[in-house]
Amino acid sequence: MKWWQNAVIYQIYPRSFQDSNGDGIGDIPGIISRLDYLQELGIDAIWLSPVYESPNDDNGYDISNYQAIHPEFGTMDDMDRLIEEAKTRNIRIVMDLVVNHTSDEHKWFVEAKKGRENPYRDYYIWRDPVDGQAPNDLGSTFSGSAWTFDEASGQYYMHLFSKKQPDLNWENETMRQEVYDMMNFWLDKGVGGFRMDVIDLIAKVPDHKITADGPKLHAYLKDMHEQTLKDREVMTVGETWSATPESAKLYSDPDRNELSMVFQFEHMMMDEQPGKSKWDLKELDVVDWKEVLTKWQVELKEDGWNSLFWNNHDTPRVVSRWGNDKDYRVESAKCFAILLHLMRGTPYIYQGEEIGMTNRHVTSIDEVDDIESRNMYAERLAQGYSKADILKSINVKGRDNARTPIHWNQTDQAGFTEGTPWLKVQPNYKEINVEQALADKDSVFYTYQKLIQIRKENPAIVWGSFNLLLPEHPTVFAYERLYKNEKWVVVTNLSADSQIVSFETIKDQGNVVVSNYDRSSLNWSDLTLKPFEAMAVQFV
Ligand code: GLC
Ligand code: CA
Repeated sequence: MKWWQNAVIYQIYPRSFQDSNGDGIGDIPGIISRLDYLQELGIDAIWLSPVYESPNDDNGYDISNYQAIHPEFGTMDDMDRLIEEAKTRNIRIVMDLVVNHTSDEHKWFVEAKKGRENPYRDYYIWRDPVDGQAPNDLGSTFSGSAWTFDEASGQYYMHLFSKKQPDLNWENETMRQEVYDMMNFWLDKGVGGFRMDVIDLIAKVPDHKITADGPKLHAYLKDMHEQTLKDREVMTVGETWSATPESAKLYSDPDRNELSMVFQFEHMMMDEQPGKSKWDLKELDVVDWKEVLTKWQVELKEDGWNSLFWNNHDTPRVVSRWGNDKDYRVESAKCFAILLHLMRGTPYIYQGEEIGMTNRHVTSIDEVDDIESRNMYAERLAQGYSKADILKSINVKGRDNARTPIHWNQTDQAGFTEGTPWLKVQPNYKEINVEQALADKDSVFYTYQKLIQIRKENPAIVWGSFNLLLPEHPTVFAYERLYKNEKWVVVTNLSADSQIVSFETIKDQGNVVVSNYDRSSLNWSDLTLKPFEAMAVQFV
């Protein structure tokens, strides 16, 4: 077994986690001060969103120096101390590896811009204009064209994200070698691995408008593994919006020596209108959604590994998205926790999820920080959408939803900072905060703590097979896990209405291991589930 196979990973978005010096920006010393809390939760590793030097066009996902810490987050000494302090608590630090692109302020790009003969020119993707225009109509994820014209050299450079995030040219072997050297620099410091930002895009073929899953992708990953990860006890998780179960097996089959696992997003895109964008909303069809999640559980059983997550710094918070953050906040937060954490794979918790933090709400674009939402707002306004419609999409799907500061306690600014936070603290911090959660034995926090413990103590949760139960039920998501002579049944009601269900084949009572309502007796053939009720029952 690899250490990450029964591990739970906690994502920290450092700007919003804990400020230590009153400048309103979370930082590394702040994280260190909260390690005891994370140890109490029981997590095994932290995925740390970028803390490198960056002009912050995309909050750190635009890196200007991979081997330096952004002064707003601290120093390299702080970083070394974080790795050390985490290690004494059996927590590993997984770094964010952003190598699809750099910042336009990275030394490589500054050099590359000096002219066509510069040795760094080929580290990036340059094309001549076609008929005085961009080479093709490839678009950027952050609105507009993926091509920006560079006056000085008369060529366009490519960027799948903002124009301050030029894409690296992975065809260039010297560039690849520099990336591997940089990875080894971090690995030699003792980090626990990497989360690889949009890694499915690195092998793009711009002239054929191929962006994700390019033909050389797996060759690059194998080469990377050979030169950096091999013979080290580390984990890697690729961010792959394009992944299918078939490609996920290519990435994560241990015999192929590429990655430990990938984040797949199929279940995260099902409340969007097909063929449109993430901003074009649609109700989630739970029956379809169950089918998709089941497909991933079943197909990656033999020669692959799943990652399990409901949210991250790019998505809304699950309790607001699919739960009910008004009448059943605590119940639905626990319900989604139980549903996820007893599946097969490695679960991820996004900071604040463990206390049931909610989406934030804005009434004006002035309150929005995120470049993706701001660019979309400008684009749609020009296309004639109403402000109200655009703000509605932002309130439902915008990335700032999950980026507000963590609520630590009831004091001013929720104990996040003694200054003015870079993004407003949410008004509900007096009711939802860590101090309150720790003091209440029925809080969402203790359900997460218990679920992490259950995974550690029960090989059935790590290795058991997965079968969906009641596949046609419109709101109840139920499944069983089978391992040796052991069986677990997980039943969750993803709705605010009671449901009556029947499991004719279950005869024994079983032992309720975790639930979000009191459950002393169970009548399996006539089971009434309360709003967002969830339970896991073990049969041995
Ligand atoms: C990934 C990151 C996101 C970032 C983008 C560009 O999707 O998670 O935050 O904006 O890549 O780096
Ligand atoms: Ca700070």
